[in-house]
Amino acid sequence: MHATLPPVSFDPDHGIAVLRTPNSLYALRLAADGSPRHLSWGPPVDTSTLAEVPDAVSPAASSFESDAAADELAPQTGARFGPAGLQVRFADGTRGAQWRFAGHRVDGGELRLLLDDRHRPLRAALCYRVRSDTDVIERWTELTHTGPADGPPDPVTVDRLDSASWTAPPLPDYRLSHLVGGWNSEFRLQRDRLPVAETVLTSRRGLTGHHASPWLALDDGTAAEDRGEVWSTALAWSGSWRVTVHRDPGGRTTWTGGFGHEGLQWTLRPGETLRTPVYAGLYTAHGFGAASRAWHQYVRAHVLPEPERDRPVLYNSWEATGFEVDEAGQIRLARLASRVGAELFVLDDGWFGTRRDDRSGLGDWTPRPEAFPRGLRPLVDEVHGLGMEFGLWVEPEMVNRDSALYRAHPEWVLHSPRLDATELRNQLVLNFARPEVEAWAAETLDRLVRENDVDWLKWDANRAFTEAGWDGHPDPDRLWIDHTRAVHRVMDGLRAAHPGLRIEACAGGGGRVDLGVLARTDQAWTSDNTDPVDRIGIQHGFGQLFPAQAMAAWVTDSPNTATGRRTPLRFRFHVAMAGALGLGGDLTSWSEEELAATAELVAVYKEIRPLVQRGLQYRVAEGPVTAVHYAAPDDSEHALLTWRPTTRFGHPAAPVRLPALDPGARYRDLDSDRVHSGAALVRHGIDPRLPAGDHAGSLIRLRRVGS
Ligand code: DGJ
Repeated sequence: MHATLPPVSFDPDHGIAVLRTPNSLYALRLAADGSPRHLSWGPPVDTSTLAEVPDAVSPAASSFESDAAADELAPQTGARFGPAGLQVRFADGTRGAQWRFAGHRVDGGELRLLLDDRHRPLRAALCYRVRSDTDVIERWTELTHTGPADGPPDPVTVDRLDSASWTAPPLPDYRLSHLVGGWNSEFRLQRDRLPVAETVLTSRRGLTGHHASPWLALDDGTAAEDRGEVWSTALAWSGSWRVTVHRDPGGRTTWTGGFGHEGLQWTLRPGETLRTPVYAGLYTAHGFGAASRAWHQYVRAHVLPEPERDRPVLYNSWEATGFEVDEAGQIRLARLASRVGAELFVLDDGWFGTRRDDRSGLGDWTPRPEAFPRGLRPLVDEVHGLGMEFGLWVEPEMVNRDSALYRAHPEWVLHSPRLDATELRNQLVLNFARPEVEAWAAETLDRLVRENDVDWLKWDANRAFTEAGWDGHPDPDRLWIDHTRAVHRVMDGLRAAHPGLRIEACAGGGGRVDLGVLARTDQAWTSDNTDPVDRIGIQHGFGQLFPAQAMAAWVTDSPNTATGRRTPLRFRFHVAMAGALGLGGDLTSWSEEELAATAELVAVYKEIRPLVQRGLQYRVAEGPVTAVHYAAPDDSEHALLTWRPTTRFGHPAAPVRLPALDPGARYRDLDSDRVHSGAALVRHGIDPRLPAGDHAGSLIRLRRVGS
């Protein structure tokens, strides 16, 4: 950022606001009707020219079209026919606000634009935040009923309150990248030409979702890993959400997004403010790879707690023992886990209440007497004595009907009394929006952590919301917001009360991974699918937005429990080393030889961990051979992980080029001891030394040895 230019400026003469990040500039202008319209988002430009930019005019310029540039948050009034980011209704049935600009506030990197409705006591604040170490712009909206709290009750119904609407510049074509999937197949990158239409990305599930993610990237169809302009956004929300991308026939593309899916309505009473989650946006001129690295850097610097604390190598017993947990069996696994170098032992599902399978016990967070007759203490002490941390699985938002909690509080679940409740995995969802449920969860978890010296919680959520009512509540749809906020609050409260406690986000694998949950969790369980072949694609999608540090990746048994595929141990390790490594197999069935190889590979991972978890990530090969290069920010150390799931006749593994290296430097290959010139590695690449055959993986470590 230019030292003399402020991060935020507002020119009252032209009504132009400018936001600057180190490598981008965002500008908007107040239109004659008082509403802020988008002006520019891209590389830094000479701002003196901004006042000359004409308002975008509809090509038809007819009485059937809108006549102005896209709104920063479109209200439902005037000649606006696209998706409206703000939809309100008043008691007399009037729909939509008409703004009068009511001023602006600049505070360091923060800008607030205040908009008052010309007719009603309603104020919107469009909020922006930029920082000097990132190109990410954070945006959110605050909507306030400005009628006196002690005045007549004249509520406003909010049908939609988006965090922000974004606009791409006119481009010859548009391509949309987003993530799709399902349970066991999350984060699959989809990259398609954007149709001239409204494209809706959404979750109606009360969770971020396995099937979609509130992240997207737009380019003109020509961007690649290492080149091209990319506009990308991500919503910090862990419940239902909706993003509508609108490419109109005139060639403009805008998108608007925020919490909640269609059809929900929230009531705003006099004196009340509704604040949306942050919707973050990033522009880069240097391709998808640079976009991902910029997101990773932002997530590490401004989202994840404790980014400088390396994530431990964990052992999790789920795939080994399922619900068949008991003290002796877990101690046996813990001893083996510690022998191979695990730093954290996580006891998964099955340890509590009457939980012998998924039909009962959820909600009763006390040790199951037959499995742990002496409580959890002996296991915790054993784990700590082995020098590992102790982690515990919980699913606090869920309840089985067959539980003491449900019998005591059947009214605590999300339900509509005149509808049959759908059970998924035999469980119902507790309504965390109810203050007494949030208080119960906070207290129960706090006690569990305190009484058992728990160092780590794996917070799971294994079903979506259905029939989500709140009987007797005047504003029942608030649960779609307040449940998520309560989950975030309980996590925040636990962290504050137990410094050092770490939390892993999980929802049947990667069903709730977003910038909101990652602000209070250390990593996310990426997928229940631990098959390394499938994981290559899952990890590729995950890494578009999230850093490797937040991506839990386990080495499990072969054949894989999800796919039945057999793969060699080394290949499983090489794939899992691309994230926060964990072990999840039944170590009691592994041979001495496998355990020895595991100990050796865990030790190798610990050596490259700072690079993987804190370095820069370059996706350097895609296709039959995939490779990811992790570089220390100071160029001192490098790790290259390469995977070839299947051999193809006539497709020998080509050398992998490492364009991020310094062509003027020299690098020693720590395994072969050969010294390579940076120029050769950049231009010609390095042989990844993949073993012959299918399911081949390799790790190459390089150290800079001077220039
Ligand atoms: C779903 C998680 O993703 C798994 O890792 C495991 O914790 C199970 N739930 C336990 O029920």
